[in-house]
This record gives sequence, C-alpha cells and structure tokens, in this order.
Amino acid sequence: MDEKQLVSQALSAALDGALGVDQIAAIIEKPKSSDLGDLAFPAFQLAKTLRKAPQAIAAELAEKIDASGFEKVVAVGPYVNFFLDKNATASGVIHEILTAGEHYGDENIGAGGNVPIDMSAPNIAKPFSIGHLRSTVIGDSIAKIYEKLGYQPIKINHLGDWGKQFGLLITAYKKYGDEATITANPIDELLKLYVQINAEAKEDPAVDEEGREWFLKMEQGDEEALRIWKWFSDVSLIEFNRIYGKLGVTFDHFMGESFYSDKMDAIVEDLENKNLLHESKGALIVDLEKYNLNPALIKKTDGATLYITRDLATAVYRKNTFNFVKSLYVVGGEQTNHFKQLKAVLKEAGYDWSDDMVHVPFGMVTQGGKKFSTRKGHVVKLEMALDEAVERAEKQIDEKNPNLANKEEVAKQVGVGAVKFYDLKTDRNNGYDFDLDEMVSFEGETGPYVQYAHARIQSILRKANRPVNLDNLELKISDAEAWEIVKYLKDFPMIVKRAADNYEPSVIAKYAISLAQAFNKYYAHVRVLEDNAELDSRLALISATATVLKEALRLLGVAAPENM
Ligand code: ARG
Repeated sequence: MDEKQLVSQALSAALDGALGVDQIAAIIEKPKSSDLGDLAFPAFQLAKTLRKAPQAIAAELAEKIDASGFEKVVAVGPYVNFFLDKNATASGVIHEILTAGEHYGDENIGAGGNVPIDMSAPNIAKPFSIGHLRSTVIGDSIAKIYEKLGYQPIKINHLGDWGKQFGLLITAYKKYGDEATITANPIDELLKLYVQINAEAKEDPAVDEEGREWFLKMEQGDEEALRIWKWFSDVSLIEFNRIYGKLGVTFDHFMGESFYSDKMDAIVEDLENKNLLHESKGALIVDLEKYNLNPALIKKTDGATLYITRDLATAVYRKNTFNFVKSLYVVGGEQTNHFKQLKAVLKEAGYDWSDDMVHVPFGMVTQGGKKFSTRKGHVVKLEMALDEAVERAEKQIDEKNPNLANKEEVAKQVGVGAVKFYDLKTDRNNGYDFDLDEMVSFEGETGPYVQYAHARIQSILRKANRPVNLDNLELKISDAEAWEIVKYLKDFPMIVKRAADNYEPSVIAKYAISLAQAFNKYYAHVRVLEDNAELDSRLALISATATVLKEALRLLGVAAPENM
C-alpha cells in the first residue's frame, strides 16, 4: 500500500473518523528535512472543530495512534510526524524494481490510444538548426514517456518542403545554380542561393514575382518545377538522415507539408461551406476576433496556400487517419500564435477534437548570448557540434579510462548523450546557451555525470561477482544515505507521470541527476563491498538504482554504457 494511504488510515482511526481518509491524504505533507520524518500531518485544520491548540492535538494523536506499521510516530509542534518502516519500504520498492526491471513504472493509462507527435520538421534546402534539434530530442523523449504509460506514439516529421520559398529557390537555381556544386554540398549551396535571392527579391519585385510564379507552378503540378523541387528535397534528406543517425532518432512517418498539397482543397471548401471564409483585399481569411486573435490568412490573392492552410489539412488528416486521443506539436515558442490560430479555425469549423491538439513549445537556444538565424546565413552547424561533443567525450575517457575496450562507441554515447541531456534537463520553455564544455563535463548536472554513476554501479556489481538473490533476502537499510536513495526509487513512477502530464522531459532529467547524486553520496559514505551482514542488501539497493538510472536515461533517448 502507498504510504500516504497507510498514514491516513492510521490517523483517521485515531480520530474516530472525525476526518475521512481522503481528507487526511489531501493535507499530508513532506517534512522540510528528512530527519523530521517521511510524512507529516498538520493539525491546524482540527483546531477549530476540536477547540484545542494544534500542538495539543498533535501530541494526543501521536500518543493514540497505532504505530505498528511505522518505525515511529512523533509530535513536533503542531505536526504529527511519521517515520516509515525503512526496511519494509525498501524491501517493497527494491523487490518491485528488480522483478520488473526496465518495466518498473510502466502503466496502461493510455490504453493504446494514438498520440501523433509532430517533431523535428526541418525545412529542406536549409540547415538543420538548433531549434530543430530541440524539437527532435524533446519529441523523441515525449514519445518514449507516453509509450511507457501505454499510449501509442506516432512520430511524424512534418518537413518544411512546400511554400513560396521553394519557388524563389527555383528562380535562384535557374539564374545562378550549378548542379554539380549543389550535389557536392547541398545545404550550404542551397542556403547561399536562398540568401542571395531573398536579398534580390526585396530589391526587385520582378524577382519576387518570378518566385511566386514558380511556386504556383509547383502547386499546379508543373513537371519541371516539381522535378527541381524534388531534387532539393532528396539532397536535403540525405543530410538530415545523417544527423538523425547520429542522434539515434527514428520516425514513423516522413509526411512533409507537400504531402498535404492535394488535401487542402477539402478543408478550404469545408470552411467555405460553413461560411467562415471572408474576402479581404482579394485574399481569403477566417475572422478570429472572438478568440482575440488576428484573422487567419488561408489563401493569398493568387490562390496560393499558406503554412496554416497546410496545417489545417494536416490536423484533419491526422484525426481521420489516427483518430488520436491527443495530437502534439513540438514546435518553438515563436509559433505559439500560429497554433492558437490553427486551433481556433478548427474550433470555428466545429471540430471539437481541436481541443485535443497541444502545442508543446520550447525556448530559444543561444550561443555566446546571441540568437541563431538561418536566414542571414548565420548558422550553427549542428552536425559539427555533435562531432565535437563526441571528440571531447573521447578525450575525457582517454584520461579516465584509457584501456576501455569499446572506446569509440562509448564516446559517441557520452558525447551525443551529453548534448541531448543538456537540452532535456532545461525546463522546456526556457532557452539555454549552447556550451559544449559544460554539456560534456563529467561533473555538474550533466548527462555524463548520470551515465558515470550508472557505469560505476555496474563496475561494483561486476567486482562483487555475486548474483543479487532476493528470495531469502531480509532487506536491511541502516544508512541515512541509503534511505534517501530508496525514497527516490519509490518516486520514479510518479515522476514519469508528472513528466507526461506536463510534456516535460526535464522532470525526468532532473530526477536522474538527483538519484545519481544520492548514489554518489551513499557511495562516499558506505563501503558497499565490505563483507558484512548487509552486503546483499547493499548490492540489491545499488542494482535497483542502476536499473532506474538506465531507464530514466532511456526515456531521454540517452544510452547508459556499462563501462566508461
Ligand atoms: N518547418 C517548420 C519550421 O522549421 C516547423 C513545422 C512544425 N510543424 C507544423 N505542423 N507546423 O519552423
């Protein structure tokens, strides 16, 4: 049984039912410091009904309560403090973890319900930015967390591969492009063309007009336009897939914006039939004044569609195809207004399932305090940063453990894991500064720090060379540091749910740091391998710790090497 329940029942009995079990459970607290006990009941609320000072009530309750299930129950001022039976609690949790293994904390809350996750979504012919990295790793982690809770995540890469910018790019290619140069170095060359033609289009309306016309041709199925566009897309994807390979992230679907090019008429017609489309200077808009939003521009004067038109078709397609219970969009906070408009238009059209669409925004990454912008050609080459992280990890491993067998593989796990972990430990809505030194450090609140704690446990277990046998084990927890670990281990299932409810992998990353810190404290105080009566208990405790650390890292998409 869960401790809160245990405490509430004991209290309710001692109060002769003056407060119900649920009422009590709702006001039970965690004491500020753990030497005050594990759970505390504040007696203030009872003061009025019982017409006594809370201190006196607490003292009487502590006296009267049946303390047999606890180590002790004491009154401290106006609180009744409960100390859990450490051995019994530890035994329950550790048994559960060592039996369930990586499935500890699994639930079937989702009952198999589909959750499409719109993630990564870089734009073809442009560099994969740090923002796309955030979307990729946050989306991937949320998918793993939701899967653990029994949902069916569907990871969709909504590539930015449609729109007027590709018309402009075709214009640039026709004017200045060279096939061989582009093939040799696609993203860089296409970006150059893009930057150049944007500058020109600003100066010269004729260039802009030409770009507009090429996009119109694309939308009308013109063969040449589509052939060039498809080539841009293919060469870009070769580069993106290389990055996904390095990140170890896969997708269930690549369905970019172009996938919806023949699915937009239906939703536009639908809006038309529902009398939601209004003409404004020749363009078609949906008025969103009652949502306190600017009107959504659905079609331009020349009939060209927009980003939101494609997202409308996408949302409907996802509902029809996956009948989702939730539909997530992991996209930077700068698009908040776009997703508000998107949901509002669907709501206006009577699609109540739009309430199940959730924009999961995230903050901006800076480097040296400056923001990145791909447009001006001021780009961080994410791939280079990942490679650099791996190199730095390898250097550290060389210093610490020069004879490590699979050094290269571990360096990859540590380097890439470090970048991912740093991103994920940040509260999603906050940004952070991209600082490789800090990310890859083995000290501080980093991925390598957590990985190292896990690897250290594995090495202790190898040294012990003694199977953890739970069958006849009477678990003993006598060190305060061990009890801290047990409490963290117990919290893990609740932590996973909290992360899911808030779409917030940082909850798990922060938890992993705390658990690793608790282990390191324990390890500094207790000689785990010393041959005494508690040896088996200690091995069971650290083995359970390793299991949970590894599973927490897995939920973040970070590997846990056995040795590093
Ligand atoms: N390609 C867009 C960008 O890089 C992100 C697309 C997000 N997904 C969506 N359904 N709008 O900004």
